[in-house]
Amino acid sequence: MSKQHSATVAARAGIAQDSAYGAVTPPLYLTSTYELKAFKQPGKYDYSRSNNPTRDLLGDALAELEGGAKGLITGTGMSACLLALQLIGPEDTLVIPHDCYGGSYRLFLNLATRKKAFKLVVVNFQQADWVEQIKAAQPKMIWVETPSNPLLQITDVKATAELAKTLNAILVVDNTFLSPALQNPLALGADIVVHSTTKFINGHSDIVGGALIAKDAAVGDELKWWANCLGVTGGAFDAYQTLRGLRTLLPRIKQHQHNAELVVDFLQKQPLVGRVYYPGLKEHPGHAIAKAQQHGFGSMLSFDLAAEEAYLAVFFAALQCFTLAQSLGGIESLICHPGSMTHASLDAATQKAAGIGPTLIRLSVGIEDAQDLIADLAQAFAAVDAAIKQNHPTEKVQSEQAADSALAKNEQQQFRLNPALSVLW
Ligand SMILES: Cc1ncc(COP(=O)(O)O)c(C=O)c1O
Repeated sequence: MSKQHSATVAARAGIAQDSAYGAVTPPLYLTSTYELKAFKQPGKYDYSRSNNPTRDLLGDALAELEGGAKGLITGTGMSACLLALQLIGPEDTLVIPHDCYGGSYRLFLNLATRKKAFKLVVVNFQQADWVEQIKAAQPKMIWVETPSNPLLQITDVKATAELAKTLNAILVVDNTFLSPALQNPLALGADIVVHSTTKFINGHSDIVGGALIAKDAAVGDELKWWANCLGVTGGAFDAYQTLRGLRTLLPRIKQHQHNAELVVDFLQKQPLVGRVYYPGLKEHPGHAIAKAQQHGFGSMLSFDLAAEEAYLAVFFAALQCFTLAQSLGGIESLICHPGSMTHASLDAATQKAAGIGPTLIRLSVGIEDAQDLIADLAQAFAAVDAAIKQNHPTEKVQSEQAADSALAKNEQQQFRLNPALSVLW
């Protein structure tokens, strides 16, 4: 049979493989250990930190979807990142993008500065001289995250892979924002893909998990050894849940994307919206690259509210179909204010330099009916409009904002006092 399409691979992940009873849905192996066949005759499995049949089904399915030789499942997206870093040492340089996920940035920074685990060079991949900057760093590993968070900037994976090859560097791509349904970095020349499966792959906001897919079998084996050695492998129950989520990945993504396109269209016509950040827009600086290297533009987008910061609370309070929360990629629509949430620990100047304005809002568009999402946004904009016309936010909003700003100041002080908390999100 010819190679199956992603929707088939995902839908049939683990299906009809049970050798014991012929269960169509694979059983969940909640065991820490396994009986030997006889003295000195171990079976395929011996201990679940090392190997677990349920976890292996998920790893194999993700490896197939990403086109890699080996898929490893970890407890969180962060532990998948930590696992990839086992391929470099104190003499090596890691290049990271200036706008990578904050938790990844915190890991890279603290391992480099406090543990001297490797040397770190931060590069803005959007600058014209990004290639020269990377060449000058002579990295052993290059880390890419595309589209970026929260401004959806695009990095050219193919060009970076070609550059990595000339430098003999390992290219790692964090593919969390798109999932294997919309982008396959290994086919574009990357060596390793990491995912926070917490997001689109599981898709139901009910577990945290991670995955690492290696293109090369020997690299995969080495990292499998490290995963067992470090103890970062994921739990069987989480793998079971994630397999269940994975089976609907392709149809979910279709609906996510369809809704996102309609929401973007609506936002562009809104007088209370400034710039809309979505790679699907022709005027987006990364549109052409995104079109070439992705199978779709995804369902993450950001926009600037064209009103004073004081009206953000009015907008968020009015919403019913968008939940104010940090994460992304679940079937439910989420909304987030990067300035005070995901990127809160960057001071105002750093946020400005990164392009994160005070009224920037990020949406993770879910699979609800798009008309309800649009109606919800419309009535929230109307609430802001009414508040502006009254010329002041409500007293309740003002007091909430005062409390929020006191809290933010207090948190900022804590971050300053404790460098370990400096990138806490
Ligand atoms: C792009 C990206 N990579 C990695 C992570 C870390 O994943 P987890 O929260 O599952 O540890 C996240 C989490 O938000 C993320 O957005």
